[in-house]
Amino acid sequence: MKGIVVRAPGGLERLELVEMPDPEAPGPGEIRVRLHASSLNYHDFGVVSGRMKTADNRIPMADGAGLVEAVGEGVDAFAPGDHVVSCFFPGWQDGPPTVGDFATVPGDGVDGYAREAVIRPATWFTRAPLGYSHAEAATLTTAGLTAWRALVVDGGLRAGDVVLVLGTGGVSVFALQIAKAMGATVIATSSSDAKLERLRELGVDHTLNYRQQPDWGSRARDWTGGRGVDHVVEVGGPGTLEQSITAVRVGGHISLIGVLTGRKGEVPTAALMARQARLQGLIVGNRRHQQDFVRALDATGLRPVIDRSFPLAQIADAFRHEESGRHFGKICLEF
Ligand SMILES: NC(=O)c1ccc[n+]([C@@H]2O[C@H](COP(=O)([O-])OP(=O)(O)OC[C@H]3O[C@@H](n4cnc5c(N)ncnc54)[C@H](OP(=O)(O)O)[C@@H]3O)[C@@H](O)[C@H]2O)c1
Repeated sequence: MKGIVVRAPGGLERLELVEMPDPEAPGPGEIRVRLHASSLNYHDFGVVSGRMKTADNRIPMADGAGLVEAVGEGVDAFAPGDHVVSCFFPGWQDGPPTVGDFATVPGDGVDGYAREAVIRPATWFTRAPLGYSHAEAATLTTAGLTAWRALVVDGGLRAGDVVLVLGTGGVSVFALQIAKAMGATVIATSSSDAKLERLRELGVDHTLNYRQQPDWGSRARDWTGGRGVDHVVEVGGPGTLEQSITAVRVGGHISLIGVLTGRKGEVPTAALMARQARLQGLIVGNRRHQQDFVRALDATGLRPVIDRSFPLAQIADAFRHEESGRHFGKICLEF
């Protein structure tokens, strides 16, 4: 079978398509999955670009979706032919967070899913939503589940809440779709007027161009009649947090998810305190969250927005496309 490895010390020119031995029969508790898709995340980019240190010849990509080909002894959750999708934290099955790093994450601390087949414990996967393509399913592992956890699991989203999402990357577009599907009102920002138009087509209630309107936080707040938004899906980090704190209502919730503007910076702590807002860092979620999310996707019929798919051999071009920032929603690999 074919797969991708990243040669140390990383860099898009060090991604190589190589021949790998086909995995054989699954052992007790394991499944063999014929993988057909993955999706790109900023974290995967950190690994393949060499910005995050990883082992030589690491197989990248945290997201993997495909078909169960064979099941080992004692596996009753899956059968051959089932459509499945991988979990970001294979060891965090349920309950409160137990992991604070990427040591166990496929495509970073351990080999990931940029390959045609894999044998893994059955508990490393969940079933995929009904009727989803493999590419659609692959978008759940990282981006989809992060948006779900931020808004629903930890945010306690309710119909009528106002949600603010930043930019039009994978996490933000998924978050706005979840919010709309659950009866929330959504404010979204982008650097591009063309992308703002696409956001409106997806049902976003109010849009702001964060380049042309650098005070987008107060504008979002004004749009709510001065009350502020209930939830912010914060993917920017230090460069956007001040505006997010301005936008949030007293007692609201900011999910600190991303670091698109840098890894550290100044936080207006007094303003945050005065808002009595909850600022919560989070990384993706556990397997139970993913199972609940899949059930919700079955019920709502929500389908992720895929900007473009690339073949496995063109993985470097796929990351260049992500780097360009031209995309809207998810970029996938299909094989
Ligand atoms: N904590 C977690 O569990 C978790 C999970 C997934 C991702 N993340 C993090 O979340 C961030 C986004 O990930 P992603 O996969 O959605 O990335 P992505 O698909 O590459 O999204 C990039 C988009 O973000 C927007 N953006 C860039 N700079 C911005 C800024 N200053 N203000 C507002 N929007 C800005 C741009 O949208 P426009 O082109 O519309 O301007 C850009 O197209 C990354 O930092 C990633 O590491 C964290």
